[in-house]
Amino acid sequence: MRYSVSPASGLSGHIKLPGDKSISHRYAMIAAVAEGASRLENYSTGADCQSTLGCLEGLGIAIERREGAVIVEGRGLDGFRAPTTQLDAGNSGSTIRMLSGMLAAQPFTTMIGGDESLSKRPMARIMTPLKEMGAALSARDGKFPPLTVTGAKLRPIEYEPPVASAQVKTCVLFAGLHTEGVTGVVERVQTRDHTEVALREFGAEIERHGPVIAIHGRPRLEARTLTVPGDLSSSAFFLTAANLLPGSVIVMEDVGLSPSRTALLDWLMAAGAQIRVLDVRQSAGEMVGTIQVTGRQLAGGVIAGATAAALIDEIPVLAVLGAMSRDGLVVRDAAELRVKETDRIATVAENMQRMGISVEVAADGFTIPGNQRFRGAEVDSFGDHRIAMAFTVAGLAAEGPTVVENADAASVSFPEFYATLERLRG
Ligand code: S3P
Repeated sequence: MRYSVSPASGLSGHIKLPGDKSISHRYAMIAAVAEGASRLENYSTGADCQSTLGCLEGLGIAIERREGAVIVEGRGLDGFRAPTTQLDAGNSGSTIRMLSGMLAAQPFTTMIGGDESLSKRPMARIMTPLKEMGAALSARDGKFPPLTVTGAKLRPIEYEPPVASAQVKTCVLFAGLHTEGVTGVVERVQTRDHTEVALREFGAEIERHGPVIAIHGRPRLEARTLTVPGDLSSSAFFLTAANLLPGSVIVMEDVGLSPSRTALLDWLMAAGAQIRVLDVRQSAGEMVGTIQVTGRQLAGGVIAGATAAALIDEIPVLAVLGAMSRDGLVVRDAAELRVKETDRIATVAENMQRMGISVEVAADGFTIPGNQRFRGAEVDSFGDHRIAMAFTVAGLAAEGPTVVENADAASVSFPEFYATLERLRG
């Protein structure tokens, strides 16, 4: 699909974001190994989270999709059945990496793969710890999907991932769930902690001692009714759009505000954003609230070190913001961007250049001078949902019309994105 964006003078209104992608994956996977039927309200409508459901069905888990909710019939820690065909994780790195932790403990072999983009994403980061725990894994060229996972009775380990990655942490914790004993993950740069929060909600014993997160194996997990908060990473597109179009006022309700994710709001506020967070409450261990943004030109700034890890999904759209900020944006320590759904350093730079924005690319980030103006152009998502949405937002603030090629990639995390945007334009 080609999406045409005409410049906008402002956006205003109340919106609801899709259910958080990270939390949806985790709730579905944990519900599958809990005992009984879990009801997951506001489960992400994104294709990635549907891929997780499809994989679980391939493992013999019954799933019912109802209007606004998903019901997962959990079969306990030993309830998966050997799949009859290769599991399809689609575009979803979270699905293949996190689910592999559970597959590694099964008394059978599973093949799991995905689309062209997923087939280029690194898997060694999960293969190493799972092999250390006793599973046998093989991959295309030793490191790319599809993966073949032959499960075993796993032994607990203490593992320190070489990259700051919540997916790797989750994979090891999910494997640890199935071992007799305590499995530890050493995390020196904090990543999103939805796995820890969700496992606790379903009844697992999991604790943090300094940098070590420890899970006690073989708990009895009980089915739950849970509501997935709105996706804070999806809010970034509207937070950016509002600040590119000064005077815009956008209110987003029931958004997840996990302290492990709110670096986004902190960074924007430090750059001068006028953001109010209202009605904050706790729901199933997750913080949830309303975000109100009133747009104005921001100062820009630097994203580096631990902040780069914390903002990794939001950097493409913050790059768009950076180009129109007063002082510009410097991104460093973000080499992980190169192994996301696309090489996001390359795809951001390519689209920026097509829109007349100057960008200096580095191995681990980029530098974008401030006070630039986007020129309407033909840009491409390159099949990456966050690139599609980031450059649709750029088009709103451009001079002249923009066309986003392969715009339907947005449906990986936010199928309602374009309709939501059109509503805000009035
Ligand atoms: C995610 C972790 C991050 C993030 C991805 C979702 C998760 O990936 O980029 O969109 O849900 O755990 P990494 O673990 O590769 O950093």
